[in-house]
Amino acid sequence: MFETDSLPYLNPSQDRRVALITGGNSGVGYYTVLHLYLHGYIVYIAGRSRSRVLNSIRELKQDATAIRSTYTSQQSSSERFLGDLFYLEIDLSSLASVISAVETFKNLENHLHILINNAGAMALPYSLTNDGFDIQIQTNFIAPFLLSMKLLPLLEKTADDFPLISPPRIIYLSSVGHQLCFHYFNMNSTFNYKPAFIFTWLRYGLAKTAGIHFMKMLALRNPKILCMSVHPGYVMNTNLFSYWTRLPIIGILFWCLFQIFGYFFGVTNEEGANAIVKCSLNPNLTLEKDNGKYFATGGNEALPSKVAQNMDFAARTWIWTIHQLSERGITIPS
Ligand SMILES: NC(=O)c1ccc[n+]([C@@H]2O[C@H](COP(=O)([O-])OP(=O)(O)OC[C@H]3O[C@@H](n4cnc5c(N)ncnc54)[C@H](OP(=O)(O)O)[C@@H]3O)[C@@H](O)[C@H]2O)c1
Repeated sequence: MFETDSLPYLNPSQDRRVALITGGNSGVGYYTVLHLYLHGYIVYIAGRSRSRVLNSIRELKQDATAIRSTYTSQQSSSERFLGDLFYLEIDLSSLASVISAVETFKNLENHLHILINNAGAMALPYSLTNDGFDIQIQTNFIAPFLLSMKLLPLLEKTADDFPLISPPRIIYLSSVGHQLCFHYFNMNSTFNYKPAFIFTWLRYGLAKTAGIHFMKMLALRNPKILCMSVHPGYVMNTNLFSYWTRLPIIGILFWCLFQIFGYFFGVTNEEGANAIVKCSLNPNLTLEKDNGKYFATGGNEALPSKVAQNMDFAARTWIWTIHQLSERGITIPS
């Protein structure tokens, strides 16, 4: 039984709650969507490929039907209801696309209860986006920052309009890989050095540390919203490793290495999603005791690295990001 079966189920015809997740068409995102949908949430899957997301919506509906067929008749008729699934176009490698996705979403919904910044890219070669950021920094940190900040007014309105339910949440998918950022590096660091297959990990670590800083700063500045970072576990069968496993010839070696590692230390995609679903739905998580925290495999609270915990560094990351966005003509209301 999936561990989140004990989390509350909603009847969307009486209690309509909306979630938005980036990259919900594959990996841990897919199973996060599946369980939010089974729990009665209206889920927007924001992705860059319409066809991939629509295919995943079809599969999600089939998987949900199969799971519902295992419910008792009482569960399926009076306790558990399916939510709904929609596609939202977003490409995190384009800040204009992020802003446009927010505008589209605001035209469709008046409330947002859960925002999950799940989409990510790992250990890619150094390459600049059209916005002038390294692809990993933008996908893993800058774009989730912008998306969250642009949706913040809607999340705050939701908190005001629904004072009696659990507060709106922002979940950021960090990674244990944030620990690779063992020192507070200047956010302008590109680590564009050789051997590239080593320095690429520092960019990943930098981005995932910045994401934890972001959640901690937001928790401090916007105490109406419950902000959390999550490491889902080592989940080796997602597409996150595909750059490496698709390399000619040595790709097969990487694939074998990842499979062996996963056999000993890994969790399945669905177990990885467990941590995210718990952070999204657990009613025992509160603003007073959990805001800004980091959760690891299985949704268990953990301490991130010393660099990620440091609030002076978090403030520096925040100021750097606001400044970078403003240089590109994007203002974030203070
Ligand atoms: N797997 C692990 O062991 C692990 C460990 C720690 C943390 N994480 C984090 O967990 C999150 C999910 O990873 P996963 O393992 O489930 O990987 P995944 O299967 O590769 O999923 C990543 C998702 O991000 C989307 N994405 C990537 N670039 C995007 C862009 N520019 N615009 C919009 N969407 C984009 C992908 O969309 P497409 O399908 O269109 O490519 C995909 O849906 C990531 O943030 C990752 O860093 C994973």
